[in-house]
Amino acid sequence: MDTKKDVAEQNLITRILEAVGSDLLRSEQIYAEELKTDQPVIRDIYAHVSKFRGKRIRPTLLLLTADACGGVNANHQILAAVVEMIHTATLVHDDVLDDANTRRHVATVNSRWNTETSVLFGDYLFTHSFHLASSLESTYACRKIGHSTNIVCEGELTQISERGNLDLTEERYFEIINGKTAELCAVSCQLGAYYAECSEEEVAALEQFGRDLGCAFQIADDILDIMGEETQAGKSLGSDFYKQKMTLPLIRLLQLAEPGDAEIIRGLLATPSEENWRKLTPYLNEYRAIDSARQTASDYATSARANLAKLPQSDSRTILEELTDFAIQRSH
Ligand code: IPE
Ligand code: IPE
Ligand code: MG
Ligand code: MG
Repeated sequence: MDTKKDVAEQNLITRILEAVGSDLLRSEQIYAEELKTDQPVIRDIYAHVSKFRGKRIRPTLLLLTADACGGVNANHQILAAVVEMIHTATLVHDDVLDDANTRRHVATVNSRWNTETSVLFGDYLFTHSFHLASSLESTYACRKIGHSTNIVCEGELTQISERGNLDLTEERYFEIINGKTAELCAVSCQLGAYYAECSEEEVAALEQFGRDLGCAFQIADDILDIMGEETQAGKSLGSDFYKQKMTLPLIRLLQLAEPGDAEIIRGLLATPSEENWRKLTPYLNEYRAIDSARQTASDYATSARANLAKLPQSDSRTILEELTDFAIQRSH
């Protein structure tokens, strides 16, 4: 247990709650109200997936950017619920794609129920999030979120189409993570700024902040998939290797390895098994592939922070800066 890191994280959470805690709470009430239903089956599934909350990064980003740009209003509270609902929908579907058993410390919908239920419950969350977004007076958010959700789906579809391609380029990898993860972080920050009525320039800077942070966050997630502890992460790990999805640490490993070793590594990646997983670990250490990916995540975190430079000084701005570190140092 890394106590110093835990204390720093707890401290950050306390300051987030001081800054936007009441808005997060309101957005959770809106989320729950939107999903109220008389259907016992759906109530069961919803109760199950709500047993543990996620980190709520996207609503937190939306509310902190709003606060840093001039103030949170009722639109932001609704939109915070919307982005978290879309995110949860993508996770329900993603766990089918990745054959995952655990999510947020409980059984995934696909393992507790079945694939059909996951597909439909994920759809149910998507349609509810658009229903909720359309409750805003302006149609801007709905259009933006619709577009971003399309991009997220494109990212997941591209990743599926590249399964087993050991020659996946970094460029293509970044296209994938930009779609499946960074886009929703970007739109969260963009909408936070837009509905706080700040300048076009600031809205664009905050969108870029969210995008860079999202890329750093996904690279860290891809490292966790290889190095993390399932009990700490609260979700199934290792699926990128088993599902032959080339992520940055694996791409870097192939780049860094001596030609002879690279051939052996390709063989291990081409036929995933527990034995081959064990055989891969020493190569990851020898060629410092994880460090190389971590450095790139850190570079994204640095460029994310640069986008905050023109915002007036505030507690929320400082927290946003610190969140870029959390995004890459996290163990869950
Ligand atoms: C998991 O997202 C999927 C990725 C985009 C890496 P989070 O790590 O934000 O998941 P929760 O919401 O905290 O469970
Ligand atoms: C998360 O991708 C899914 C989306 C961003 C849509 P991953 O498959 O990499 O994330 P985890 O590790 O399952 O949370
Ligand atoms: Mg996935
Ligand atoms: Mg997954």
